[in-house]
Amino acid sequence: MSFATRLLLESDISRCVDIYFAAFQNPHSLACWPRGVPAVRSWWEAMFHDELHEPGSTWIKAVSHETGEIAAYCKWRQHEEGCVLETDLPQWPEGADARLCDETFGDWARKHLELMGGKGHMYLEMVATDPKFQGQGAGSQLMRWGLARADQDGVESYLEASPDAVRLYEHLGFHEAGRTDTWIENERVKPRTLYRNLFMIRPAKERR
Ligand SMILES: CC(C)(COP(=O)(O)OP(=O)(O)OC[C@H]1O[C@@H](n2cnc3c(N)ncnc32)[C@H](O)[C@@H]1OP(=O)(O)O)[C@@H](O)C(=O)NCCC(=O)NCCS
Repeated sequence: MSFATRLLLESDISRCVDIYFAAFQNPHSLACWPRGVPAVRSWWEAMFHDELHEPGSTWIKAVSHETGEIAAYCKWRQHEEGCVLETDLPQWPEGADARLCDETFGDWARKHLELMGGKGHMYLEMVATDPKFQGQGAGSQLMRWGLARADQDGVESYLEASPDAVRLYEHLGFHEAGRTDTWIENERVKPRTLYRNLFMIRPAKERR
């Protein structure tokens, strides 16, 4: 199947939140975000709306040439040299596991600052493919959009990797720069599960 890469629109947000919840089936996401809870869904939709036009951010989607459906989306953020990376956390929605969100998203933000603070880089904040389109090239197509930009600018790329995506990221030139292991257990994730998140960097190419 082939896909067109397009900019994400306000009218795509509801579909992308559906993709997010369908795609992220790892224990960390399931523990953080209960599915089918209106406050959680509204929080995600509001976050997309707030960040869609954020300076430096580009949200793109892969649209199936065959069916016209959005198969995948991602958010790239371009950080300039001298950037100040935020470590403040938002207010989590009612129903989310606030303790786990604080612990993990807090660790990830601090690690981003430690590894990339002040450096110009492309940051992949989020990527998700609808499960029915996975393994058909949509995710890597959106990844390559940002990596081409990083190569044009001669900067590194950075991301936080869920275990399921590590192999794909390695194939795209990323390597591990750090990791966190978190024990996860709540009413949605039993028994206790060790979740490994990797921090990954793709080196800069020579500026063209
Ligand atoms: C990670 C994720 C975004 C990848 O999206 P995807 O659209 O399935 O990605 P692709 O199809 O481009 O690549 C996936 C694999 O299929 C392979 N593939 C791509 N096109 C293919 C094709 N036409 N035929 C067969 N295999 C193909 C790729 O080589 C890749 O293999 P690899 O893992 O060995 O590198 C998707 O699995 C997902 O949404 N996961 C849940 C959310 C998540 O974890 N997001 C990442 C957060 S860090």
